[in-house]
Amino acid sequence: LHARIIIDDDFEVADVPDRIFGSFVEHLGRCVYEGIYEPDHPRADENGFRTDVIELVRELGATTIRYPGGNFVSGYRWEDGVGPRESRPHRIDTAWHSTETNEFGLHEMVQWLKTVGELGEGVDRSHHSQSYELMEAVNLGTRGLQEALDLVEYANVPSGTALSEARRANGAQEPFGIRMWCLGNEMDGPWQLGHKSAEDYGTLAADVARGIRQIDPRAELIVCGSSGHNMDTFGAWEETVLSHTYDLVDFISCHAYYEPARYDGDMQSFLASGVDMDGFIKEVAHIIASVKAQKKSDHRVFISFDEWNVWYQSQEKSKVPEGIDNWPVAPHLLEDVYSALDAVVFGDLLITLLKNCDVVRSASLAQLVNVIAPIMTIKGGDAWRQTTFYPFAQAAHEAKGGVVLEAKLVSDSIETPAYGAVDGVNSVVVKEADGSYAVLLVNRSMDSEARVTISLPQGVYTQACALTLHSDDYMAANTYDNQLHVVPQDNSSAELGSESHEVSVTIPAVSWTVVHVK
Ligand code: AHR
Repeated sequence: LHARIIIDDDFEVADVPDRIFGSFVEHLGRCVYEGIYEPDHPRADENGFRTDVIELVRELGATTIRYPGGNFVSGYRWEDGVGPRESRPHRIDTAWHSTETNEFGLHEMVQWLKTVGELGEGVDRSHHSQSYELMEAVNLGTRGLQEALDLVEYANVPSGTALSEARRANGAQEPFGIRMWCLGNEMDGPWQLGHKSAEDYGTLAADVARGIRQIDPRAELIVCGSSGHNMDTFGAWEETVLSHTYDLVDFISCHAYYEPARYDGDMQSFLASGVDMDGFIKEVAHIIASVKAQKKSDHRVFISFDEWNVWYQSQEKSKVPEGIDNWPVAPHLLEDVYSALDAVVFGDLLITLLKNCDVVRSASLAQLVNVIAPIMTIKGGDAWRQTTFYPFAQAAHEAKGGVVLEAKLVSDSIETPAYGAVDGVNSVVVKEADGSYAVLLVNRSMDSEARVTISLPQGVYTQACALTLHSDDYMAANTYDNQLHVVPQDNSSAELGSESHEVSVTIPAVSWTVVHVK
């Protein structure tokens, strides 16, 4: 395979929003309990937060954290998770057929994010500052307008009202100042508790949006789009929901998960999943533009791609417990183990988000720890990085603070049963704050290496280096027993041409690469 990339500084897509490197903490399985919070763990701090996990979260470079769900939020009473721990109720969580102990709630989440920020001070060697932000979801499944407004009052009103004083009595003198609010979760999905028609949801979301803005005009609101590109209601849902809410919201969400089973096990099609995500984004962007035109509005709505990942949803690990007498606490759920090949698909999804960062201004990798996650933990034991950790961490490190360029990519194509002929190589180019370039690349081909040449703008370049993540056994993974099995390796084929206006690099079949040129 051959691919050519032409970089020109004058063609910008957009600045890279920090929020595109968001992640997601849901009360699901062991994401919270035994994930970020485990008071008995030898590395837990005085709040019960695992500091080994916090170190990895910082290394990952995650920014905004979406919380507390997910499907979980559609049955959640936020009040259960505040106040003295000993009086917090144990509740059934119907979404994941589990028991929620409410030991961890809103105050703990705010404190955790603060700790993640503080722990980096003085020890963070990255040249980019890290910002951590809470993106809070309200329950529009079993609850509605009043409960959503109560939560916003509790969180953001400084003092002097019943709920703001309750927050203060619970230990938080200062308001939490939460900006981003998700108006429910996946309300288009029949599996969602309190699932609604687009008309009903659009009407409710508009009411909630108006109410939240009456309390806090700085709020940034995310209305639910489709929970998948392949939903029967996709398109019509976005159009109807936005027709009710367009001027009241700032983002519409997209969710997408990919697994080989979606392609009847065809790995070459799975490797091209980024093609589907790209189409999804472009179609939603068109619907946003169409509703904007119909409303003759000056307001802009962006995409929050607030759930994305590889997820082996059809497999055993994602089966929820069953039985009227069986409601486990923090069961092992959705603990997918990611292969080298999964990391390539994942990297392609990340490239796709970045390429579209003029419209995708927020995204959340679903999820952060243990549950379809880049970070895994053992109760009482280690925390380690899955294969998917690396593309995210490298991209976050290179791209934060930079600008995505509309680089021209010409790639030989590969044939895929699902999408026909697609580019064998996909890439995005980021111009970094210090003037250097990061070229993120995937080779989607199952069997051919790719020779990539990158034409640079006029200038003086002194160095080109590349790191590649690849395994000849593409099913290889990082496990508890073999935590560093698949890691990025120096790719010595990267070289700056003699005229030094061109870099070339060879990337193996099924691989992820970051080329850095300065
Ligand atoms: O991330 C796992 C689940 O996927 C979320 O709870 C839900 O929103 C989506 O269907």
